[in-house]
Amino acid sequence: MAEPELAAEIVIQTEDLRREFGETVAVKDVNLVVEQGAVFALVGPNGAGKTTLLKMISGLLAPTSGTVWVSGLDVRREPRVVQQLLGFLPDFFGLYEDLKVWEYLDYFYRAYRLPADRRAGRVDEVLDLVKLSDKRGAEVKTLSRGMRQRLGIARTLIHDPPLLLLDEPASGLDPESRHHLQLLFSELARDGKTLLVSSHILSELEDYCSHVAILQEGRLVASGRTEEVRQKMGKGKTIRLSTLGDEEKVEQVLGSLPMVEGHTRDGQDYIFPFRGDEAALAHVLEQLVGAGIAVSFFGEERRTLEETYLMLTKKEEGE
Ligand SMILES: Nc1ncnc2c1ncn2[C@@H]1O[C@H](COP(=O)(O)OP(=O)(O)OP(=O)(O)O)[C@@H](O)[C@H]1O
Ligand SMILES: [Mg+2]
Repeated sequence: MAEPELAAEIVIQTEDLRREFGETVAVKDVNLVVEQGAVFALVGPNGAGKTTLLKMISGLLAPTSGTVWVSGLDVRREPRVVQQLLGFLPDFFGLYEDLKVWEYLDYFYRAYRLPADRRAGRVDEVLDLVKLSDKRGAEVKTLSRGMRQRLGIARTLIHDPPLLLLDEPASGLDPESRHHLQLLFSELARDGKTLLVSSHILSELEDYCSHVAILQEGRLVASGRTEEVRQKMGKGKTIRLSTLGDEEKVEQVLGSLPMVEGHTRDGQDYIFPFRGDEAALAHVLEQLVGAGIAVSFFGEERRTLEETYLMLTKKEEGE
């Protein structure tokens, strides 16, 4: 039995949010809801409007029309309070190269006018959180790209905001550094923080993002729990079949079944879209086995979010 869902607090809400740059509509009437504790992926191709949307949510850019609320506060009316509630990591950010790592964070701590007696402690806390404690005394210019990203995130965390907006934090990182970043995101979410992370590296998102929103030419084409978005976007099932040879027979059986509309090969495997129910699927397997084919695998291919996304953006293009 499904557990009753607790009503989660809404951290970000946008209503008909729109931003135009001359003729270009960068963000088109977006209605987005982000709940507390989510690791929310904002995905879309170059120019989709991710950065524009994040800047409006953070209060750095005024909308042409529409409203953003952060923790129930109108971002345009209460920009100062909202600044305390969020940390924003821009897609390109400069670091003060000649400062030491701790000095850099110390500088930002002071900029927030936070209590002086907590300063050193907080700097060490965030360094620990982003796993840079051993680089505390190193000069910023000596850090690797992955470490720089983590230092950037440490900076957004310095005033301990409940909401983080990170614009392409994984861009340019190698797989190991991306993995470290993912672990950090999960840890932050466990601490009760809410993350809105933009990216176009989609294949990795579904493993750790609880929610996903897909932007296409400024429009929100899908938004919700990662699993729901995947299901909603997936039309029918994709079946993978492995057999021990018998190619001719397999072709024959698959060709004879009305609910199998063509198939492709993936190495030795057969992949085909299937639109029937479970009973119809069982029937397909029965036919294959009945024809004397040695079936070594028969099952649903889980469509990756990447594939869903590509399918979706392709469809949108054709409109
Ligand atoms: N300051 C600006 N002046 C004019 N046009 C802009 C400005 N900022 C963004 N745009 C346009 O708005 C659209 C959305 O841009 P945005 O940077 O938000 O996309 P993005 O999804 O962040 O892209 P990327 O993946 O390349 O970072 C683009 O067509 C872009 O050219
Ligand atoms: Mg961008």
